[in-house]
Amino acid sequence: MEARTSSAVVKTDQRVVGPIIMLGPPGAGKGTQAKLIAETYGIPQISTGDILRDNVARKTELGVKAKAIMERGDLVPDDLVCDMVADRLLMADCYKGFILDGFPRTVRQAEWLDAQLEKIRAGQDAAGRAACAPPIVLRLVVEYNQLLQRLTGRRSCPTCGLIYNVYFQPPKVQGICDVDGSTLVQRRDDTEEVISERLKAYEQLTLPLVDYYQASGRLVEVNGDQPVDAVAAQMLSALENVHRL
Ligand code: AP5
Repeated sequence: MEARTSSAVVKTDQRVVGPIIMLGPPGAGKGTQAKLIAETYGIPQISTGDILRDNVARKTELGVKAKAIMERGDLVPDDLVCDMVADRLLMADCYKGFILDGFPRTVRQAEWLDAQLEKIRAGQDAAGRAACAPPIVLRLVVEYNQLLQRLTGRRSCPTCGLIYNVYFQPPKVQGICDVDGSTLVQRRDDTEEVISERLKAYEQLTLPLVDYYQASGRLVEVNGDQPVDAVAAQMLSALENVHRL
């Protein structure tokens, strides 16, 4: 498969990519970039926010527990999220690697992930071990006011999941998905009040992960304040360089 945004990436179909983590505040563009990277490398995007929202919509036991927490902008308890991720990592499509979008979000989740990957690596062949190697962490850095505009302007397609923005990435026809014609929706937690709680949770609970991953030398900072294609090109180039190490 050809990379859409970087001439540095050529054929990537068969390559074992390993785990990639998207780290950044709400609205940084984690989901947008994760979709592009997933498409480029042929690996799944695992978005804990999407899986939780799906559980809320289906009113599962997990969804019932998570609903009010998410609507307040708080984090869902670590144990619930880790169990959910454990199940997802065992799925067959993770055989070359995967991209985690919105996970880990606390130091406890990061420690759990390290232990989980080590457990999965045990007993695997070389390719299996590479698919669950210690993750590469892409940190998106974005200015605060830009985050607010991205979140309040976000709309998404309930059918194909494509993400738009009324200010920066509008659909061709207002309110309608370019791909499948579905009516676009706004997330319930994208109100100014809840956004402020989500940003606080990020500062207090998720930002310490920068130190956690910097210590292992696998953290790459990317300037997320650029247009989508420019951010994607920087990320893909960073991944190519890290993979060559
Ligand atoms: P989650 O769904 O993970 O939300 P989030 O982290 O708050 O991140 P967002 O999805 O809001 O933003 P994003 O960075 O993906 O940006 P996007 O690409 O969409 O989590 C939601 C909730 O679930 C949490 O609050 C928590 O309750 C719970 N939860 C999830 N994971 C959990 C965990 N691990 N532990 C505990 N609880 C958990 O882009 C945003 C907008 O900007 C879009 O409109 C897009 O078009 C636009 N945009 C993107 N890039 C650019 C660009 N470069 N230039 C201009 N516009 C851009």
